[in-house]
This record gives sequence, structure tokens and C-alpha cells, in this order.
Amino acid sequence: AIDIGSLRGQTGVITLDEGFVNTGSTRSSITFLNGEKGVLRYRGYPIEELAAKSDFIETAYLLIFGELPDAAQADEFRVGIREHTMLHEDMRTFYNGFPRDAHPMAILSSVVGALSTFYQDSMDLNDEKQVEISMYRLLAKLPTIAAYSYKKSMGQPFIYPNNELDYCENFLHMMFATPARDYMVDPDFAEALNLLFIVHADHEQNCSTSTVRMVGSSNANLFASISAGIGALWGPLHGGANEACVNMLETIAADGGNVKKYVDMAKDKENGFRLMGFGHRVYKNFDPRATIIKATCEKLLAKLQLDDPLFHVAQELQDVALKDEYFIERKLYPNVDFYSGVIYRALGIPVDMFTVLFAIGRLPGWLAHWKEMHDTPGKRINRPRQVYTGSTAREFVPINER
Ligand code: ACO
Repeated sequence: AIDIGSLRGQTGVITLDEGFVNTGSTRSSITFLNGEKGVLRYRGYPIEELAAKSDFIETAYLLIFGELPDAAQADEFRVGIREHTMLHEDMRTFYNGFPRDAHPMAILSSVVGALSTFYQDSMDLNDEKQVEISMYRLLAKLPTIAAYSYKKSMGQPFIYPNNELDYCENFLHMMFATPARDYMVDPDFAEALNLLFIVHADHEQNCSTSTVRMVGSSNANLFASISAGIGALWGPLHGGANEACVNMLETIAADGGNVKKYVDMAKDKENGFRLMGFGHRVYKNFDPRATIIKATCEKLLAKLQLDDPLFHVAQELQDVALKDEYFIERKLYPNVDFYSGVIYRALGIPVDMFTVLFAIGRLPGWLAHWKEMHDTPGKRINRPRQVYTGSTAREFVPINER
């Protein structure tokens, strides 16, 4: 706590915690995280158990509504989402205006923000039914918006959703089918995607979730809040690390696989290089999500009989870094982004779509947090303070006297 009374003519005491390292921004009953022990639970259920036994839509229900659904509730939830998978035909025309090489995260955030223009009843936050429909729309349309951004980059026609398929299958179908060639979804691919979405689904007050809560705290609607969250996720220190990590692994592989050189480079503060997919604000132990993803990666590559050189580079990099005093001292371990890219590659997902997939996975968490905040009696707008470091009161000098 800093007494700013003596500082710049302000009064009172302010807690200054740059980067919010130890500052709780809210109470929440959604996700439990113990960074020292490497524990992650959604609504009390360990991530390992959900990854092994649940599916993404059931996990989304759990996060948003607080309990696992019974069979009828799960059915109703799935049907409700399926009803909204199509994008309004006028919205397709937005894509004509985006350059072909636009980053898909930019497209995702723009089109999600633009949902407010199509569904203006979403502005009424006092209408619980409208808020719920907005949630269904987001869950249903995000994969469609994402797949269309890929089709745009390929110059291929957009593929409509197929509601006979489940959530992950449908996304792969919209990505890879063409009018000239049907795409048989490989169940192993859908299973791997399902698992990745589950482990990305929530992570308490991370940068993008805090952003969603921050924007939502002003009573901005869901589409505006989620669009802002997508922007926050894009950065390479957050969700964008999965793309940056694979680019880094490719560079190392092309440079003869000399991982030691890159570990040494990451220790040198002068060059600004960091090991992407390494380190975490909260985990000072193995990130349990990285452990699950690595095991899935091994299983999938073996099943597909794929020998991805990047997987070898990643493992060697991990081995060397974890034995290095710099990484040991600072408790830097592989995070969720370290191995996920190797799985996405195996599924044929292009690198610039990796963070988009993170966004689809994280959406239920964002929705759960927005809803928790919105439903809290006496909720207040989030409005942090600062410690002012500028000049004291000055007299204005007219331009001809400066
Ligand atoms: N490579 C090399 N050094 C690192 C790395 C890394 N990946 N991560 C942290 N460090 C070092 C820092 O230089 C610092 O060293 P110092 O004490 O000598 O100054 C120390 O470890 C602590 O790092 P901070 O940046 O203070 O930790 P912070 O909690 O602010 O940042 C972050 C966490 C952003 C994840 C950081 O570890 C990082 O940049 N990692 C690489 C990017 C990444 O993988 N991001 C994904 C995170 S998971 C997610 O958001 C989905």
C-alpha cells in the first residue's frame, strides 16, 4: 500500500500491484487453481478427470451453469447450440471486405463484435432470456466464424455447418470440406480437438477473462465483452504463445535442432527472446494442462504414425531447460501452449489459426465469468486506481510564448 497523500496532491492510500501479481479482482466459484502444486479444477472437478471422461459441451455447461448436466439438460443444451450455428447471410459479406491475408484473430474479434449489430435485443441485459440466447449464439457461431476466416484465406467457398455432426466434428467439417470434396471427419481428430477445448475452457482471472469481466462490468453486452477478450487473448504473452511457440520450434529445427543455443538465448535479457510456451504467472510447477496435452500428443502421433520433428525439438528443449539453473530458480515449466501446436499441426490446422482454436476452447470460461459477474448482487463497475507520476499543477503557456 502506498500513501499517495504526500505524492501529487491526491489523498488516501492505494495498493499498487503492477501486473496484478497478488491482487484478487473478484470472488469466483468457477475455477480453482493452485500454482505451487499444479492443481486445476473446474467447479471442483479435477481437469484430469474432465479431460478423460467429459466432452467439451458438457464441460461448457458445467462452467456456465455450475453443475454437470443430467441427460435431458445436456440434450437441450446441445440442441440449443445447434439451432444457432448458421451465420446470417449478410454477415458473410463482411468477409469480402477483409484482406485475404488478414489474421484470423482480427477477423474473429471483428465479426464477434459485429454480432451486436445483428442481434440488437442482446443489449437488454435485464432480459435473462436474451442473455441466454446470446450465450447460445456465441457458442454456436464461433466455430463457424473461425472456419470462414480460414476459407477466406484459402480463397475457397464457405462450408455451411452440418448439424448432424457434433461440435468438434462440425468445426473440422467446415474447415476442411469443399464443394468438390467431402471430408470424412477422423474420430481421432475430433477426440483430440475435444480434449484440447476442455483443457483450455477456463483458467480463472487470466488476461483475457479479466478483460471480459472488465468490459462486462460497465454493463456492455456479451458480444462486445467477448470481442474484447479475443483481442486480449491474441497477444503472444497469452494465447498467442501457441502460434509463437510453433514458429520458434520451426526456427530451432531449421537451425539444426540446437536447443541449447536457444535456451542460452532465452537467459540473456538483452535480446528480448523468451522460450515461448514456457513460464506462467501462477504455475510454479508443471502446468497440469501441459502434462495432459503432451500425453495426448504422444498418443495421437503414434496412432497416426506421424513422426513430427517439432515434437522431438519440443521434448529436447523441455529436457534441457528443466535441467538449467536459470529455469529451475525461476520455476519456469512448459505451459498449455508448449505442446498444443504439435497436435494442431497433426490435425492439419494452419499455424495462424492456433490462437483462434484457443478462443473457441476458452469461450465457455469467458461466458461463465461474465455471467457470474452479471448475476452478483451489488456488482460494481471495475475501476482500478493508479499512482500518478506526472507533473504537479502547471500554468498554461500560450503557443506563441512556448
Ligand atoms: N523464457 C525465459 N525467461 C522467462 C520466461 C521464458 N519463457 N518466462 C519468464 N522468464 C523469466 C523473466 O525474464 C523473469 O526473470 P527475472 O526474474 O530475472 O527478471 C522471471 O522469469 C519471471 O518472469 P515474469 O515475466 O516476471 O513473469 P510473469 O508472471 O510476468 O509472466 C509469462 C508470465 C508472460 C507467461 C512469461 O513466463 C512469458 O513471457 N512466457 C512466454 C510466453 C508464454 O508462453 N505465454 C503463455 C502463458 S500461458 C497462457 O497465457 C495461455
